[in-house]
Amino acid sequence: MTWHRKHLLDIESLSAEEITTVLDTAREFKAVGERAIKKVPALRGKTVVNLFVEPSTRTRISFELAAMRLSADVINFATEASSLKKGETLKDTARNLEALNADVIIIRHSATGAPHFLSRFLKGSVVNAGDGAHEHPTQALLDTFTIREHKGRIAGLNVTILGDILYSRVARSNIWALLKLGAKVTLCGPSTLVPRVFEEMGCRVTYNVDEAIADADVINLLRIQHERQRQTMFPSIGEYTALFGLTQARFARTKPDVLIMHPGPINRGVEIASEIADCARSVILEQVTNGLAVRMAVLYLINGGRTGPVTSAPSAS
Ligand code: CP
Repeated sequence: MTWHRKHLLDIESLSAEEITTVLDTAREFKAVGERAIKKVPALRGKTVVNLFVEPSTRTRISFELAAMRLSADVINFATEASSLKKGETLKDTARNLEALNADVIIIRHSATGAPHFLSRFLKGSVVNAGDGAHEHPTQALLDTFTIREHKGRIAGLNVTILGDILYSRVARSNIWALLKLGAKVTLCGPSTLVPRVFEEMGCRVTYNVDEAIADADVINLLRIQHERQRQTMFPSIGEYTALFGLTQARFARTKPDVLIMHPGPINRGVEIASEIADCARSVILEQVTNGLAVRMAVLYLINGGRTGPVTSAPSAS
């Protein structure tokens, strides 16, 4: 197992071995989370800043909890109450956080490349918690972790990503991770939101939802990213649901052991029927639970944590 990186900026630049290292380390941290004492001293004395300049529920809270479980001091940066609102630049904000001894800055930003930009001048570590429509690496890591927990492998699985692919950072990071780990990836949605250029990455693109889901071992549903669309990409929400929503009728035609996934937030009755979101084959909330172990693993590894069993390295405090 290998890990020599100071930052986690994307999945595109990671090797399959590095991705597997994160997943294996996350499995160790998941086991730690099942102990009576869930806290380890791995990041004691370190300061982690959650710099979320876009809204978030799952990612921000699980990064906060992950840092706390690793015994770090955590600061949640409140954009609305910050000097970003007075015209301070992102660079100056980040340098001021560093002047207060931030060791890790976890950033979510609407601009593609914002984490990469910070990593060029900050002395500490930078973690990408979602940059525009580019990447959301920890989401892909927790998604692949969840698939591996259920299916025992990634290689050879048929994974369908259904929805707004064009504007989705979750889709891009998942595509990179799944292809690197040997899965077969099918993309489906309206042609305006699933351009054929994704075939160049090695994905199958289809606009026939029945074809996309028939042989799928995993169906990962994505919401419509209204906040990033600059023009009307399909006639109406009703038409989108009729043509591409995972309805009960379509669900009945999937494999009996298909995993239903969604990064959240879900729009019930739009991309997924409410009953399917809550059914036994849905692992949507398990994804959230696994996000904690994966984010602990990422924070641990970028801070120089050893790979291998963490049960014996950072002892319980
Ligand atoms: N999946 C995800 O990124 O959710 P949040 O926007 O709530 O963090």
